[in-house]
Amino acid sequence: MHFVRLGQSGLKISALSYGTALTIGTEDLTGAFARQMIEKAWDLGIRSFDTSNNYGMGKAESLLGDALSRYDRQEYTLSTKGSWPIGQSPYHRGLSRKHIVWALEESLKRLKLEYIDIYYAHRYDDETPMEEIVRTFNRLINQGLIRYWATSEWPVAALEKCLQICRALNLEAPITEQFIYSYAVHKVETNGVKVFCENNGLGMMGFSPLAQGLLTGKYRNNIPSDSRIAKSNLLNYDKTAAIYDQNKDKINFFVDLCSKFGVKGNHAALQWCLRQGVYPVIGASSPAQLEDNVNALKEENAITEYFWAELENNPRITSRD
Ligand SMILES: NC(=O)c1ccc[n+]([C@@H]2O[C@H](COP(=O)([O-])OP(=O)(O)OC[C@H]3O[C@@H](n4cnc5c(N)ncnc54)[C@H](OP(=O)(O)O)[C@@H]3O)[C@@H](O)[C@H]2O)c1
Repeated sequence: MHFVRLGQSGLKISALSYGTALTIGTEDLTGAFARQMIEKAWDLGIRSFDTSNNYGMGKAESLLGDALSRYDRQEYTLSTKGSWPIGQSPYHRGLSRKHIVWALEESLKRLKLEYIDIYYAHRYDDETPMEEIVRTFNRLINQGLIRYWATSEWPVAALEKCLQICRALNLEAPITEQFIYSYAVHKVETNGVKVFCENNGLGMMGFSPLAQGLLTGKYRNNIPSDSRIAKSNLLNYDKTAAIYDQNKDKINFFVDLCSKFGVKGNHAALQWCLRQGVYPVIGASSPAQLEDNVNALKEENAITEYFWAELENNPRITSRD
């Protein structure tokens, strides 16, 4: 596993990050599973871990923190997020200083950590002034509670305003944007966000790079009983089937092309993201999946240019998103 530099910051992360949404703390609530997954990720060379205060309503952070406690804190990066609604009151959501300072304190307690490497403003909040947002995250940096701050799924207009204010006030800007990104779903290529990141030195992290498992090809003929779609009731999450319905043509084309070339869908999906300069935040519900995903980076699994050319020249797909 190699390390990559995130945007214009000095921070290096492992080229693949492992995220804990819907698995650790949601699908499986045991410490044994969390430890098994983190140990596997570590052995495979992953040193960048992603979570959020809303994953399993805090359980993901608690289990991840316990699982990581056996490793040297200096040897990995941990990102978590705030602003997603975690309760009914106005103080349980958004980017106000009141919510974010409290949300971070609670995350640190659950993770049993003294600091977070990358703290995300999980979604933009247009009811908090941009200057308050920027000053709040800078204050957390100055207090030593976070090393860097970042945004996730922010619209390009908000990113523009944020960077203007950071420059005007000479304050720390977010170091990366984290957006949904895969061959199947990449709206950032048409809504201006990706080009903005590229032009302004913001790092690009892509979540759901396998389109939640759809690009592995495992759903091509049926819905496997242990898959995210089959587990939608257990997970209380039903977006995977919707992603398939909205992107059928692209997904089927991709999966069929992988079969034609004899390449693994997960390898092609992850290599595709990296080719676009986006660092994948992968999920995995078993150690074997993690290993198979990390194998995507092995030189012997590099996919031929003929494959990429045929993928780009897909005659059946008119739009890129
Ligand atoms: N910033 C945000 O708003 C945001 C939003 C969503 C996610 N995220 C982050 O991104 C991370 C990844 O998201 P994601 O889980 O949707 O990503 P993903 O990598 O596209 O999908 C992961 C899922 O696909 C299946 N899978 C993975 N590897 C496989 C393999 N080799 N073969 C077959 N199936 C495989 C597994 O599900 P099954 O085995 O259950 O089918 C696994 O849980 C999250 O954990 C979170 O940290 C961030």
